[in-house]
Amino acid sequence: MLGPPGSGKGTRAQIISELYKLPVITTGGMLRGAVSEGTDCGVEAQSYMDKGELVPDKIVNGIVRERFQKPDVEKGFILDGYPRNMFQAEFLDKILAERGIDLTHVILVVLDDRIIVQRLSKRRSCPKCGAIYHLESKQPKKHGLCDNCEAKLVQRDDDKEEVIKHRLEVYAKQTAPLIKKYRDQGVLVEISGEVPFDNIRDNLKEILG
Ligand code: AP5
Repeated sequence: MLGPPGSGKGTRAQIISELYKLPVITTGGMLRGAVSEGTDCGVEAQSYMDKGELVPDKIVNGIVRERFQKPDVEKGFILDGYPRNMFQAEFLDKILAERGIDLTHVILVVLDDRIIVQRLSKRRSCPKCGAIYHLESKQPKKHGLCDNCEAKLVQRDDDKEEVIKHRLEVYAKQTAPLIKKYRDQGVLVEISGEVPFDNIRDNLKEILG
């Protein structure tokens, strides 16, 4: 899943995971997990995440390599939020080549920055299972509680307006160049982040078959 912060990558990754029974590998989620557990890697990552900067490649590539050791990736997987720059993309190419895996789709979610800022300020997420909600367009069944695990929903620390703006700049500078790489590879599929919630599932099925 490729696209600016808040475009809807995580929402779609969860739907694809349900549809095709595939694990989601989310570097943002794994890093937030490390932060809440207070591991060394989490402590180092937090200072970058709070500012909306990319966490150093060495840390992120390390956690991705470790994640690829788990057997569940063998039947397929969804990468959400990785790679995020050319160095990470080349690192991923190496991991995939070692395992004889081809990327089938790189889904680019396109959404206007103005809508992104509005959406992220009203996002809430589950700290336990990672489910994503929105105060207006995707409310949980019980106010403030996750539908899956009833944990109390939280607002992410990096969803403050000034940090969101910086994350968008970082995306434009460091991540957007990957669009050309994957377009040249013939795997890029562009979708609109404005597709209403009720139609996202069908939209993804059309693309993925
Ligand atoms: P990460 O967790 O990956 O965040 P991000 O890329 O900034 O993306 P988001 O999770 O904010 O948004 P999303 O596109 O998934 O949108 P969502 O589906 O939630 O990264 C966080 C930080 O970790 C980074 O800044 C960096 O520091 C670090 N990091 C992570 N990976 C890294 C890497 N590879 N290298 C280095 N550092 C890394 O949707 C947003 C909102 O919109 C939700 O409320 C949702 O309900 C709502 N919404 C979604 N779709 C719709 C719709 N169709 N209609 C209405 N509302 C909708």
